[in-house]
Amino acid sequence: MRQNLLRADSALLSYPIREVVLIGKQLEQLGGFSMIWENIGDPVSAGESVPNWMKEITQEYIAKDESFAYTDSRGFIDARRFVLDNFSNDKVCTIDDILFFNGLGEAINKILNNLPREVRVLVPSPTYPSHATAEAMHAGCDFISYSLNPENDWEPDLEEIENKVKYNDHVVAILVINPNNPTGSVYKRETLEKIIDIARRYDCFLIFDEIYHHMTFDGVEMTLLHEIIGDVPGLSLKGISKDIPWPGSRCGWVEIYNAEKDESFRDYIKMILLAKMLEVCSTTLPQVILPHLYSHPNYNNYLASRLKKYEKRANEAVDFFKNIPHVRVNKPKGVFYLVLELLNLPRNQLSAKNKAVRLFLDDLLKQTKVSEDFQFSYELMASKGVCVVPLTGFGSTINGFRMTLLQENDTVFTQTLEKIGTAISEYYQT
Ligand SMILES: Cc1ncc(COP(=O)(O)O)c(C=O)c1O
Repeated sequence: MRQNLLRADSALLSYPIREVVLIGKQLEQLGGFSMIWENIGDPVSAGESVPNWMKEITQEYIAKDESFAYTDSRGFIDARRFVLDNFSNDKVCTIDDILFFNGLGEAINKILNNLPREVRVLVPSPTYPSHATAEAMHAGCDFISYSLNPENDWEPDLEEIENKVKYNDHVVAILVINPNNPTGSVYKRETLEKIIDIARRYDCFLIFDEIYHHMTFDGVEMTLLHEIIGDVPGLSLKGISKDIPWPGSRCGWVEIYNAEKDESFRDYIKMILLAKMLEVCSTTLPQVILPHLYSHPNYNNYLASRLKKYEKRANEAVDFFKNIPHVRVNKPKGVFYLVLELLNLPRNQLSAKNKAVRLFLDDLLKQTKVSEDFQFSYELMASKGVCVVPLTGFGSTINGFRMTLLQENDTVFTQTLEKIGTAISEYYQT
């Protein structure tokens, strides 16, 4: 090539939830075994069947011509109306303040990419990797973060947030993921109010990723941003990948709150809308179907039964892991993930499925310097055939990993816990 095609900041681009799969697939092939994939938060690929009533609605609306047309750049009007009436709040949001995207993945990139390069968004650590990577790629250097504290049920460190906002006036926004991926925590109202107060006092806006807002366990209170935001500008991110669940639809939206309260915020939002207009619109079909899925008479019971299943899995996993030495685990309050911290994690080996697997891993570890928990997760795949995502892959400095609670088969789930438990014990002993 006449010029170098690789951006100078290319090393910042990563998505460990899927990258770990590439290694897992090679190990599977070399070892001749089937991996248990515990890495990705897709209920459908984990084996949950899509109910017939959802398929029937989809069939009904795919037969209509309007599903084949472009739609408004902001999104299909009936979907925006439905979102406003059911998930949002007309005290802080209007129908024109709801923008649909091809999944929150796209929304996250548009939100970060349309900010001036020098301004920063404070993201949690650990975090959903797309946020951290988008923040880093936008700034051209490492993302900036505040800690979630495992010793306080993964609640945000409010003092750190305040200090980082106070002493860095390039910080313009605070990102909160609630309910949280990867930790499964659901934040107390009081915690969220304090974060909003920090944003108010330092003239920042808020980004609340609330894609899991329907996914809290029995008796857990969910506080939505629109209930407490007051007059601070903010964005709530939601979508249909998790609660419906239709991740393959690539359909998510942003609710903009208090757009008119701040001139600079309003102009920035206009940039996001213009960027969307350049692409014309997001895919029409899932937007047309969305109101009919959420308002179907079977929906609430369907969601409740899924949540019950995840909570049962969470209890089973926490009971299993809580007595294993070197492991710290917090019981999730929602979502379908579990994070295990691996305390003082050494670098070790586990017995690999065969020689080819061992040689491949040795070679890989020689070529790439990885953190302790990545090494553990490779050894876990090579030895027990279970794929999880290392916690440092979520922009954390804490060693550990995230597994899902999506396994449909009781026996396979119990076996998976046992395999992981044995691997941890062996790893610390060798
Ligand atoms: C916190 C969080 N935000 C956003 C997304 C991405 O959602 P989408 O499928 O709409 O791109 C995910 C997916 O796992 C997520 O966990």
